[in-house]
Amino acid sequence: MIALKSPAELAVMRRACGVAVRALCAVVDAVVPGVTTRDLDRIAEDQIRALGGVPSFLGYRGYPASLCASVNDEVVHGIPGRRKLRDGEIVSLDLGAVIDGFHGDCAVTVPIGTVSEPARELLRVASAALSEGIRAVRPGARLGDVGAAIQRYAERHGFSVVRDFAGHGVGRSLHEEPQVPNFGRPGSGVVLRPGMTLAIEPMVNAGTHEVMMESDGWTVRTKDGRLSAHFEHTVAVTADGHEVLTGLPDDASSIISDCG
Ligand code: MF3
Ligand code: CO
Repeated sequence: MIALKSPAELAVMRRACGVAVRALCAVVDAVVPGVTTRDLDRIAEDQIRALGGVPSFLGYRGYPASLCASVNDEVVHGIPGRRKLRDGEIVSLDLGAVIDGFHGDCAVTVPIGTVSEPARELLRVASAALSEGIRAVRPGARLGDVGAAIQRYAERHGFSVVRDFAGHGVGRSLHEEPQVPNFGRPGSGVVLRPGMTLAIEPMVNAGTHEVMMESDGWTVRTKDGRLSAHFEHTVAVTADGHEVLTGLPDDASSIISDCG
C-alpha cells in the first residue's frame, strides 16, 4: 500500500526535509582534503540534532552511523571511519532526518579539491539525471516515466545506472512503497498521485552498472572499480506537478551542485 500524505503531514515532511538538507549542506561545507569520513558523520549527527531532528539512518537495520559516505568507486552505504579524504577523490554524502514521525532523505556527491574532468562530468550528469527524473513527476505520470528519464539521460551521456538499488517511498518510514528504480519503460509502473512522497536517488556509474557488496555487509561498490556518483531528493507529488521537499528555498535543484 502506498501511503498518501495529507497537507498536514506534508507540512511535517517539509520540516524534516529542511533539517536533512541543511545538515547535508553543513557536511558538504566541511569536505576538505584530510577530513575523515568519521568527522563528517559527527557533523551530520550534530547538525541534525541541533536543528531539532533525529538521524534517520543511525540504528536503521543496525546501520552504525548518521551519514553514509561513499568514496570513489563506492556507490552507496559507505560506513564512516578513519579514512581521510584526499585531493582528487569524490565522495557521496547521504543522510536522513526524522521530525515528529516523518523522514526526509537526501544525498549529494562532491569533489575533494581538484578532480579530473571525467569525474566532474560524472557529477554533472548524475545530478542532471536526478533533475530529469524529478521533472517527470506529476499526477498521472508513472514510475516508469521517472526511471526512464533518469536512465535515458545518464546513458545518453555515456554512463550507466545501478539496477540493484533503487529509490523509495518515504514518510513515516525511511523506506516505504513504492520502489523507485532508476531505469524503466515509459508508461509502465505505478501511477503517481498527489500526496505520494518519493526519495528519488540515481546512482550513476562511469563504467559497468554492476555492483558488489563489501564484506562489512553495507558498502556497495562498482564491480569494475570505476567511479560512481549518487544524488537524492525527497519529492512530493502535488496537484499540478511536484515539490522538491529537500530543496533549498531559493533554488530547489542547487543543493546538489553547491550548498550556496
Ligand atoms: N538514502 C539511502 C537509502 O535510502 C540511505 C539508507 S542508509 C541506511 O537507501 F543506513 F539507513 F540504510
Ligand atoms: Co534514500
